[in-house]
Amino acid sequence: MCGIFGCILKEGKAAPLIHASLKRLEYRGYDSVGVATIQDGEIYLKKDKGKIDDVHRLLNLDDLPGNLGIGHTRWATHGAPLKVNAHPHTDCTGNIVVVHNGIIENFSELKLELENSGHVFVSKTDTEVIAHLIEENLGKNAELTLADAVLETVKRLDGSYAIAVISTKEPDKVICARNESPLVLGVSDNGVYFASDIPAFLPVTNKAVFIEDGELISLSATGYEIKKIKDSSVVKRKPKVIAWTPEMAVKQGYPHFMLKEIHEQPATLRNTLRMQEHYLDLISTFLDRATEVFMVACGTSYHACLAASYMFSKLAFLPTYPVYASEFIEQHGKSVNIDSTILAVSQSGETADTLAAVTCAQQRAATVLGLTNAIGSTLTRVSRVYIGQQSGPEIGVAATKTFTSQLSVLAQLALRLSKKRGKISQDEMDYIEARLEELPDMVETIIQTQEEKVKQLAKKYKDAKLFFFLGRGISTATAYEGRLKLMEIAYIPSIAFPAGESKHGPISLIEQGFPVVFICAKDGTRKTLVSNIMEMKARGASIIAIVEEDDEEIKALSDDYIEVPKGIPEVMSPIPFAIPLQLLAYYMTLEKGQNPDTPRNLAKSVTVK
Ligand code: M6R
Repeated sequence: MCGIFGCILKEGKAAPLIHASLKRLEYRGYDSVGVATIQDGEIYLKKDKGKIDDVHRLLNLDDLPGNLGIGHTRWATHGAPLKVNAHPHTDCTGNIVVVHNGIIENFSELKLELENSGHVFVSKTDTEVIAHLIEENLGKNAELTLADAVLETVKRLDGSYAIAVISTKEPDKVICARNESPLVLGVSDNGVYFASDIPAFLPVTNKAVFIEDGELISLSATGYEIKKIKDSSVVKRKPKVIAWTPEMAVKQGYPHFMLKEIHEQPATLRNTLRMQEHYLDLISTFLDRATEVFMVACGTSYHACLAASYMFSKLAFLPTYPVYASEFIEQHGKSVNIDSTILAVSQSGETADTLAAVTCAQQRAATVLGLTNAIGSTLTRVSRVYIGQQSGPEIGVAATKTFTSQLSVLAQLALRLSKKRGKISQDEMDYIEARLEELPDMVETIIQTQEEKVKQLAKKYKDAKLFFFLGRGISTATAYEGRLKLMEIAYIPSIAFPAGESKHGPISLIEQGFPVVFICAKDGTRKTLVSNIMEMKARGASIIAIVEEDDEEIKALSDDYIEVPKGIPEVMSPIPFAIPLQLLAYYMTLEKGQNPDTPRNLAKSVTVK
């Protein structure tokens, strides 16, 4: 998974804009970077392995001539993160230049065929075959336009791609194509742009054209033309105005995107309370009719699904199955059918495992519903009905604000369904709805009053080699999420279990001073949770409790505690209880001297299976 960006400007040099835009796509991958431009019929290209800033210091990525160019920030799939494998890639002559996000599944066969025809490959990437195939097509028929040659090329590709091609053959054009990898155009008075994601061009334009699978685009200084790859028919599509401001996509004075995004949660939660009623109604109607409901997702989004399974069960008496998307096909692929409903949850809407599960379900005639933060993403296009969680762009690799927004939307769906089914009393419903309205303020209070305390906690436990995260009931999902956050950015091995499971094995790890984080929501599980705390204490564990502010009993049992406001209904407790865990992961990461925004080996959007 990678980020691509390019532009044709009426005024100004392309390279500095490409460099700046790739920085905003760095969350998609950051092991190598490259830029290519054209001026006076000549290609200029710079690339190397390493993060954008490091490569820029070495090569000056702004210093390429021309008003037209393409760029790429990479997360390696085929070939190690080396200069030779960095994009852009070229054909034998160096006159055809390609950037690509995705995976070409049949690249080995194509490579062999091209090598047999005399093409010489320099990299280990799948992408390089695209440049040589275009060269081959143009070699066979010099009459072809660049767009036609790209069209013939992509027809031979199996797999996923968002590509952009420039060539000295038509030095005033950029040709793009998309299949199962994100691609969006931007349009302004000063030119046209393409990118893997909107924030890349948001500072220069808020007018976006979403490209769909199976489309090929010719960009020129005068605009864009979209064609269907299968029959070359022209597609008319006007730009949409995107409400995100450029400020939403930058750090706003915070040292890291992750901290900025943690602090944005009161605002993002307010946004989720302004959901379009129509879509909540529609999705809850589908859920109401469903015979069986699978909730498929990965990582943090899976934890939101796990929490939602408790919400749907407790509020609407609807049994649901949260399933890791990467396991869905193996686990349920044969049994899912026309009576099944799939609620796919994905912040990016582009996660390959989630989309694969959705495709499998669709092929078996199941109903697909979607919840995502990325309108225009693949998930929105393949869902029968989808709902946008409206969190704004999330740049930090660790999901924070998008998790709490997912939870808020899912809680609202469960409430809506509960109303339809008449499963809980009006008083209970009113109480939960009122607390939901108060949640943004609660979260604000937690950040304001507890952040400093969490910082100190991180200092105290910074040398711990292993952490436990335990909760019962819906807090199990919160515990899993706290564990994932700490592991993925602070690189601290962590274990999470339903607290009741710990005595069936994991407790054997406990020794003096071992930190165990307990999620202590005041719900039906609290009494047994106190017993679990006692079990851990008796074995010398250091108890770190996330507690409601009036929970004196648990405070007294704990070595350290972080408070959240009292009176939180059980079904929404993961939202406030997740905040201290996000902060803990963030400050532990700083204590370790690492950058929380760009954890090693990870990328924001995982578009490979
Ligand atoms: O975009 P998605 O919600 O589908 O992404 C799913 C996971 O890749 C994502 O949540 C990942 O686990 C994050 N690194 C969690 O912080």
